[in-house]
Amino acid sequence: MLTGKTIVLGVTGGIAVYKAADLASKLIQAGAKVRVIMTKNALEFVTPLTFEAITSNSVITDMFKTDAEHRINHIALSEIADIVVIAPATANVMAKIAMGMADDMLTTTVLATDSPVVIAPAMHTAMWENPVTRDNTAKLVKRGFHIVEPAIGRLASGGYGPGRFPDTEVIVGHIKMVLGQNSDLAGKRIVVTAGGTQEPIDPVRIISNRSSGKMGYALAEAARDRGAEVILITAPTALSKPVGIRIITVETAVQMKTEVENAVANSQALIMAAAVADYQVAEVASAKIKKESGELSLKLMHTPDILAEVKGNFLKIGFAAESQDLISNARIKVEKKRLDLIVANDITEEHSGFGSDTNKVVLIGQDGMPESLPVMSKREVADRILDRVCRLMNVQPKT
Ligand code: CTP
Repeated sequence: MLTGKTIVLGVTGGIAVYKAADLASKLIQAGAKVRVIMTKNALEFVTPLTFEAITSNSVITDMFKTDAEHRINHIALSEIADIVVIAPATANVMAKIAMGMADDMLTTTVLATDSPVVIAPAMHTAMWENPVTRDNTAKLVKRGFHIVEPAIGRLASGGYGPGRFPDTEVIVGHIKMVLGQNSDLAGKRIVVTAGGTQEPIDPVRIISNRSSGKMGYALAEAARDRGAEVILITAPTALSKPVGIRIITVETAVQMKTEVENAVANSQALIMAAAVADYQVAEVASAKIKKESGELSLKLMHTPDILAEVKGNFLKIGFAAESQDLISNARIKVEKKRLDLIVANDITEEHSGFGSDTNKVVLIGQDGMPESLPVMSKREVADRILDRVCRLMNVQPKT
């Protein structure tokens, strides 16, 4: 979604400047055009050459420099920007923007732009917590600036607390979310489930499955990037939590059912990408089962079928993991669980299914007509599913 977008990256003078180089690099790799403005103080930490090499563009450092490409029009960058990102942002630049000051190229660009502005502050905890910075931050939020909360951790000054420059992927997540806020799913609330549920045997052991959660997380992020309000109900996974999404962590199928039932009220769609265990242990042992007990037989009973049982006025999208008769089995699930759409995948195929970064799926709606997609990244599959969700909502997909 960043392909072809023009991002003006404002770099101000703090020790985290070197991390902004990684951010610029990731944005370029994602297909964005990046134009960097460095403040005078930022130049004390790194030279423009770093950003010029990464972005293949000249870096603006001085409004009045005669060889500056944008000298003629000091607001040129504010006009071409799809988004302005200030990272790292010092307390000083936040104060200037909150006051409406425009005494250099960056603050002038911010004052002149109609585009969204994302600010990623990084500073010593005492400065971040100073009432003046608190007031300035509140003022900026009120005026529609998007603040990426600084991370909590060890600071360059040796202290520990809030003020650390957030990880690159967190900032990129915020940029995507802000860019997508008026996209085709704006105003819709979508519930996504992900991961494999874990059914306890005793306090130590569980029954689970091989689901990595990648497909559900890709769907949640894609829906967020298209403007939806997303609730992600996730079984435990090794994936990092995406930003801008309400995340509810559960373990068992029964817990997931409760959370799904709560979340779907006032939602327009439920996408059940979770691999819900079909069986749970009938009697969970309260103490660890010792091996001296000899051979062990477990009595298993069915878990609730969340997708089949949940009811309401929202679209129901399910997945069908099959190892044979893909289309006919998926069609049966559409009927039985009264689905609007099913995403069927043959888990025996290469590049597909559990743990993989790619997937090869067939989409089947209520008319039973299969739409076979080629092997794609899970993110691309997510967007194709959301295209169908848009059409089911009578919204023209923008991708
Ligand atoms: N599902 C669910 N609750 C369950 C089992 C499955 O909500 N207890 C959902 C899954 O999240 C998925 C869809 O139902 O979206 C189909 O899951 P799948 O495992 O393919 O099918 P099952 O209904 O479990 O049938 P089977 O395992 O026999 O194929």
